[in-house]
Amino acid sequence: MNNAYAIVNQKGGVGKTTTTANLAAGLARKDKKVLLIDLDAQANASAHFGVSVEDGGDPNVIEAAELKKSMYHVLRHQTPIQEIIQKVSENLFIAPASLFLSAADLELSGVIGRELILRSALQSIEGEYDFILMDCPPSLGVLSVNGLVAASKVIVPVQSEYLALHGVRQLLDTVDQVRAAYNPRLSVGGVLLCLHDSRRRLSRSVADTVKEYFGDLVFDTIIRTNVALAEAPASGESIFDYDPRSSGAEDYGKLVEEVISRGA
Ligand SMILES: Nc1ncnc2c1ncn2[C@@H]1O[C@H](COP(=O)(O)OP(=O)(O)O)[C@@H](O)[C@H]1O
Ligand SMILES: [Mg+2]
Repeated sequence: MNNAYAIVNQKGGVGKTTTTANLAAGLARKDKKVLLIDLDAQANASAHFGVSVEDGGDPNVIEAAELKKSMYHVLRHQTPIQEIIQKVSENLFIAPASLFLSAADLELSGVIGRELILRSALQSIEGEYDFILMDCPPSLGVLSVNGLVAASKVIVPVQSEYLALHGVRQLLDTVDQVRAAYNPRLSVGGVLLCLHDSRRRLSRSVADTVKEYFGDLVFDTIIRTNVALAEAPASGESIFDYDPRSSGAEDYGKLVEEVISRGA
């Protein structure tokens, strides 16, 4: 799939969901048709846009009328992804997550070809969206691997923190393995510095180290720490609607331009 981005880091709290949600909203504002696929059982990206899937009843009784379907059903029960996609705004669509996804790692462990399920599921919507953004969970388990297999590019948010690079090597090894085994076109679309506080010497030195280590793979855009970014989800809005004058809106606006100009 072209222009399909997996937003991956097995560390939690580094800015994956904030980046996925605001990049999706920003691209949609640029007249791109965007599908956000929420692969994290915590469903934060879905909740960010007010999309929720009630976890009622037994996930295996998929006929139950009260049970709204989520990515869980796409991955586990071959539900066509079109059936679960919800429209958020003119150009923005979400395939929501639900808590059931937390069982997927275990439930899919015995399934042959489990790494390929999402890629197959996306074949039915090939060409329908300008961008697909996949918000991955904080692990390198079967859900993140499904994201990597279905993606054309990986975006790796890293926090401007001590030990930020810890784990990124392992992540890039996983990317290499997925590329070799399933997805030769997969490339690293960029390492993105998030939660950056330029007043802190530590943030600046982490930024320098990341640039030294990853060179051109690092996005020019740096996402600064900005409280509006943490507040926006509660309002159900992206940063561009919640506080268009904030530094968060400025930074994610730049990222949108950079992603568009770096191309497929
Ligand atoms: N640039 C930022 N400035 C301030 N808060 C942020 C920023 N990026 C993320 N956050 C907040 O930090 C927390 C973790 O971010 P999140 O995007 O959910 O990370 P992840 O998806 O990697 O776990 C969330 O509460 C989020 O609102
Ligand atoms: Mg997240």
